[in-house]
Formats: sequence, C-alpha cells, structure tokens
Amino acid sequence: MIFRSRLKVMLFKLGLTVIILVAVYMYYAINKSNEDDDEPVMLDKHVEVVSDKRPVINDIEKKGIDNVESSILDTSNKRLSLRKESIHLAVVSCGDRMEESLVMLKSAVLFTRSHLVFHVFTEKENIKSFQEQLDFWPPDYQDKFDYEVYSIQFPDSDKFKAEDWKKLFKPCACQRLFLPSILTDIDSILYVDTDVLFLSPVDDIWKLFELFNSTQLAGLAPEHEDKAMGWYNRFARHPYYGELGVNSGVMLMNLTRLRSSPWLISMHNYIIEYKLKITYGDQDLINIYFHYFPEQLYVFGCAMNYRADHCMYMSICKPAEKTGVYVLHGSRRVWFEDKQPAFKAVYNAFKEHRLRGSIKFELLLKLNSLLKKSPESNCGKVSEIFTKQIEMYVNSTSRQP
Ligand SMILES: *[C@@H]1O[C@H](CO)[C@@H](O)[C@H](O)[C@H]1NC(C)=O
Ligand SMILES: *[C@@H]1O[C@H](CO)[C@@H](O)[C@H](O)[C@H]1NC(C)=O
Ligand SMILES: *[C@@H]1O[C@H](CO)[C@@H](O)[C@H](O)[C@H]1NC(C)=O
Repeated sequence: MIFRSRLKVMLFKLGLTVIILVAVYMYYAINKSNEDDDEPVMLDKHVEVVSDKRPVINDIEKKGIDNVESSILDTSNKRLSLRKESIHLAVVSCGDRMEESLVMLKSAVLFTRSHLVFHVFTEKENIKSFQEQLDFWPPDYQDKFDYEVYSIQFPDSDKFKAEDWKKLFKPCACQRLFLPSILTDIDSILYVDTDVLFLSPVDDIWKLFELFNSTQLAGLAPEHEDKAMGWYNRFARHPYYGELGVNSGVMLMNLTRLRSSPWLISMHNYIIEYKLKITYGDQDLINIYFHYFPEQLYVFGCAMNYRADHCMYMSICKPAEKTGVYVLHGSRRVWFEDKQPAFKAVYNAFKEHRLRGSIKFELLLKLNSLLKKSPESNCGKVSEIFTKQIEMYVNSTSRQP
C-alpha cells in the first residue's frame, strides 16, 4: 500500500513537472514568435502605426476592461488590432474606383465617434497604392482607424469553385457575398459601395444593429419608395424581396449570423439557377435570398441610403426631409456626370476637403457654396437635406465643453 501511494505521489510530481516545463516552453515560444513577426514588417509605416497602438490595448487589458480583444488578424503580413467596440467598414474597390473609395473612407473618418477598421478589397496591383494613400492621412486621424487591404479572393471548395465565380461576373462583383467566410474573426461589418458618402457619424447607422431581432442577420434599404418607378416590380425575371426589392449599396452584415445561415450555399444554388436572369449581379442574388428568407432582413429607411432616385422627379424620401441624409449613395456615377449637379457638388466638396481642415469653416462652407452655384435641379431644390446632418454634427461638437 505504502509503495503504491508513493508511486502515486511520484507520478503526480512528474506530471506537474512536465506541465510546468511545457508551460514555460510555450511562454517562450509565443514571445519568440511575436518578436519574429514584428521584425520583417517594421519598415512599413502602417505597421508602425498599428504597433504604436498595441500598448493602448495592453493598458486597457490591465485595467481589467474585458470588452477588448487583443486577438490579431494575420491575413497578410500585416497586423490589425481588433477591439470589440470598433466599427468595421468594408468596401470592394476595383478598376478606376480607388479615388472615389478614398473619398468615401475620408467621409467615414471625418465624423466618426468610434474607432474604425477599414477592410478594403482590391486587385493585387492596387494594394500598395491604397496603403500609401491611407498612411498619408494626418496623424490625428491615424488614431481613429486601422485598416487592412486584401486582394480579391474567393473561397474554394468541392461544392464551391472559386473559378466559377470569377468566370460568371467581373472578378470583384460578388466579392462581398463571401465576406462571412473571409473575415472569419469579425462579428459584424457595414459594407458600402465605393460611391457612398457618410454625411453623419458611421455610429448612427451602426447603431441599427441593436434593433435587429433574433432572426435578422442583415440590414438594407428598399430599392424604391414608389411602385411607379420601381425596377424590380416592373422588370425583374427573378424573385426579389418585398414589393420593390432592396438596394445593396449600404448593407449591415452580421457575419456571425450569416456564417451559421444558409447564405453561402444559397448563393451557390441561385447563381446556377438564375444566372441568365439577373441584371445587377450580387444585388439581385441578395434580393433572391431575402425573398426566401424575409425574416432575416432588417429594412432601414431611405435616409441611410439616399440616391438620386429619391429626388430626381420629386422628393419621395420623407424621412430625409426631416432628419437630413445620413448616408448618400451616388449610384449610376452621379458624382462624375452633370445629370445630378447637387450630388456632384457634395462629392466635390468632400473630395476637395483636406482632413486637417475645419468641418465648419471649410467643408460646410464649400458644400453650401457649391450647392448654390450648381445648375438648378429637383434634387437641388431640397439641398438642405445634404447639409443638415453635417450642421448637426458641427453644432454638437461646438457645444461640447
Ligand atoms: C451578431 O450576432 C451574434 C449572434 O447572434 C451576436 O452575438 C452579436 O452581438 C451580433 N452583432 C451585432 C453587432 O449586433
Ligand atoms: C424579425 O423581424 C422580421 C421582420 O419584421 C420578422 O419577419 C421576423 O418574424 C422577426 N423575428 C422574430 C423572431 O420575431
Ligand atoms: C446649428 O446651429 C445654428 C446656430 O445655433 C442653428 O441656426 C442651426 O439651425 C443649427 N442646425 C441644425 C441642423 O441643428
């Protein structure tokens, strides 16, 4: 008996020693690999910015605030610090859309109250220019965002051949459908088209996530307000959401919920079934999905995805008349053409605005003067909807002590 219990004690001690040794080894191994990771990328300014911020995260951890994740994304050789309270903004920018995308990102960072993380998807050859442009933003704005630039990618599996998707559409068209399986560490994102401008803090639209019920996994605005003008109800040859369909240019996506939904497999089925019947690519696929799963969609108002359709004949987005436009969407290239001078004026005001400049005395004045100078148009008649949110932002910041 005594021998047996001695053996037990010995075995216990041996086990304990092994555990301690393994723990010590792992501690060193982890520290070592962190050092290794840091070294080769220190040349890059972006990484310097990110690593500057890491102490901040450690401080917060020390204070015991547990809503901070220090998990590190390692999709390329870059590091992204993920914090739970950050707002994640995704954009797919290909071809000649880089400048427009950067103006969109600038509008997001101008008003934001939360820390932003940009997820930019683009062609391989554009990655470097995106990084250079974003790194060039002034230091006081660098604190407000982190970013990651990814090359366009499609998940590949037996059921789901990446090549098929590339063949069916232009390479970038359907990228966003796959965000749930690419950004696997991210809970939720706001996806926007490149031709979007934030006229209010991103926080305002992000807050809508709180209004989702337990089945809703995405948020979108209707494609139209008016049946007489609707595209889907008059022309679509495939199922679509609700009476008038939804517009996909501004989309809240709960990626966690999308990952555990039939989203991805459905997209695969729809593309086979409907590929000859769809006109607007991914937007049509999204409409087909929410036709079959309407309980999964949260529909938000037109002031969060305001398009020229909302004012070109007459003002049909009543909420925007009250609150002003939160998120402006220059679809059909209205930023660059003369058909909608008011939209062009807003874009040019943001494009010309330097981040260091005053929102009140530069951006807002410039915007008002460009709107005033624009040729007359129906959208121009309600031009205060383009300035109201910016004015409210200015008023709210100047009232702060
Ligand atoms: C997304 O859904 C998950 C799972 O239901 C939930 O835990 C998370 O809080 C949601 N995210 C947001 C931003 O609402
Ligand atoms: C969530 O809201 C949608 C749209 O109003 C509705 O169809 C769905 O049934 C709701 N889900 C729950 C669980 O109440
Ligand atoms: C902002 O403040 C000015 C001056 O107090 C006021 O005239 C204006 O109506 C306010 N704008 C908004 C949108 O609240």
